[in-house]
Amino acid sequence: MHASRDDDSQDPKEKINYKATFRMLTGLIVPERRGFMAAFAWLLLSTAFTLFSPIIAKYIIDTAIPSKNIRLLVMVVGGLFLNSLLFMGFNYLLQMRLIKTGQQIMTDLKKRMLSRMLALDLPFYSEYPVGRLTARVQADTGSLYELFTETTVTIFRDILMFIVTFCVMFYFSPRLTLILSSVFPFAIALSFIFLRKSASLFVTVRKLASEISGFLTEHLNAIALLQAFNREKMAAEKLEAINKKKFDAELSGELMMIVFYLSVILLSPVAIAIILGVGGGWAIDRTISIGTLVMFILYIDKLFEPVFRLSEHISIIQRSFAAGHRIQRIMERRPAIVDGPAPRYIHSIREGIEFRNVWMRYADDSPWVLKDISFKLPKGKSLAIVGETGGGKTTVTNLLFRFYTPQKGKILIDGVNLSDIGLNSLRTAIGLVHQDIYLFPGTIMQNLKLMDEAIPDSMVHDAIKTIGLEAFFKHHGLNKHIVEKGVNLSAGEKQVISLARAMVLNQEVLVLDEATSHIDPHTERLINTAMRRLLSSRTMIVIAHRLSTILNADNILLVSEGEIKESGTHSQLLAKGGIYSKFYKLQFGEN
Ligand SMILES: Nc1ncnc2c1ncn2[C@@H]1O[C@H](COP(=O)(O)OP(=O)(O)OP(=O)(O)O)[C@@H](O)[C@H]1O
Ligand SMILES: [Mg+2]
Repeated sequence: MHASRDDDSQDPKEKINYKATFRMLTGLIVPERRGFMAAFAWLLLSTAFTLFSPIIAKYIIDTAIPSKNIRLLVMVVGGLFLNSLLFMGFNYLLQMRLIKTGQQIMTDLKKRMLSRMLALDLPFYSEYPVGRLTARVQADTGSLYELFTETTVTIFRDILMFIVTFCVMFYFSPRLTLILSSVFPFAIALSFIFLRKSASLFVTVRKLASEISGFLTEHLNAIALLQAFNREKMAAEKLEAINKKKFDAELSGELMMIVFYLSVILLSPVAIAIILGVGGGWAIDRTISIGTLVMFILYIDKLFEPVFRLSEHISIIQRSFAAGHRIQRIMERRPAIVDGPAPRYIHSIREGIEFRNVWMRYADDSPWVLKDISFKLPKGKSLAIVGETGGGKTTVTNLLFRFYTPQKGKILIDGVNLSDIGLNSLRTAIGLVHQDIYLFPGTIMQNLKLMDEAIPDSMVHDAIKTIGLEAFFKHHGLNKHIVEKGVNLSAGEKQVISLARAMVLNQEVLVLDEATSHIDPHTERLINTAMRRLLSSRTMIVIAHRLSTILNADNILLVSEGEIKESGTHSQLLAKGGIYSKFYKLQFGEN
């Protein structure tokens, strides 16, 4: 029941395309450049103010206190306080600006991704399972959000802070600064060791987290099945096992983090010891002032923090690029099935539809699903396709809608090749009622309009009247709320609604993949009436499982193993005494 594909982390051998990803990321930043520029201005100011306070402290100790001037002392301390207030103010502006800009970028990115994904064709969706796709969109855009709001700013602040702090310290005491710098290699080595050890753990944690959410989605979607076969306990046990793994990995990661921070904390007393020990010696010689020592102590964290965070930054950038790369891979996907250079628009169908020697297989290494299929459907006529399960009936409709492209042969509408017709106009002219009926959460009315509020209610009422379903919709009010996937409706009710929906959308040609479910005689009669009226008023292809549909069709194709084995009207085919007559007798009995 588990998807074996793991596309939360790409194939480790797959190289991240840094150039393309970088281009995508800058493409996201450019429209928001003003926001970023403002953020950087606030960043410069807030960093300047945070770096200024140790210098003020030094001034207090070295100048204000020895001068015994209380007024000066009070003024400078006031200045110190104001300095902190200004820092907080600019920091607030910075954070707000970043959050705004970051959110703007994310909204924009998600919008772009969604419109890209909506344009992608069915082969894409059979490659990427939808549940994982949504998890990925969420997680990857989340990583980028972190990059744009937190990381970029901290990186710049750290670089700035390090350089300025180093220069100021160097200015006041080059010797002490250079001695302190001997701690850097340890700090850098320590943080890289930590990064190396923890990175794989965090990857594991992330993978397990997405596995858990995938597991939950899959199992909760199949809850009825699980309960019916008493598999709840088994599912719970499986989930617990993954949870345990995640718990262990998470714990080791946290443990490593604690050890790392403890060793970082240990370096700080070492640095302070150097300042007070070595610097203290010089203070006795009076080659350095006490104020400078205090200033060094106040600066020391600002000098080391950026160094410790270096490895963290590198890992976040790597992670962001990995996420950006995955997003880029979706964004660069172009639907394989697109309009040609000069697409033709069909306003109305004049002659009909023709399949001419069509061959189709879903992958190059899989067997042919359709073999040399040819048929004609004149305008206003109806065609029923019958045959065994897996014979290739739905595939015929997949081709007509250009969800897939046939490898050989032609599909023509009024003599025009399907690939020359604009996709939009094609799918406006031809309507589809799927075998798996999908209803959206919302009222019955909204579902009948397929969420297009521009369709007037009167059109819905007319359609219902035309197919004679008034009684049904009196019973099931148009305001009745349908829950997700229509689980609060019976199978038959869903079929009735989907038929009415096809009628409301009022397309010239209707393709109907009849659901196979058996329904009660009353609903059956309702559907039959509706079907008869549909068949007489439209050009239709029906993949038929219902006797009445077959009887009312103008032409019948018997498709088996991807081939049209027989064709003709019901009575012709019966008289022939071939596969159809056997099929018919088997399915519907002698009479
Ligand atoms: N998206 C797909 N990718 C790969 N193979 C597919 C895909 N869809 C269908 N097939 C295969 O193509 C063959 C024909 O499938 P199709 O859905 O056309 O059958 P069908 O005649 O509609 O069957 P049914 O009466 O059960 O709906 C089957 O063997 C099926 O396994
Ligand atoms: Mg089918």
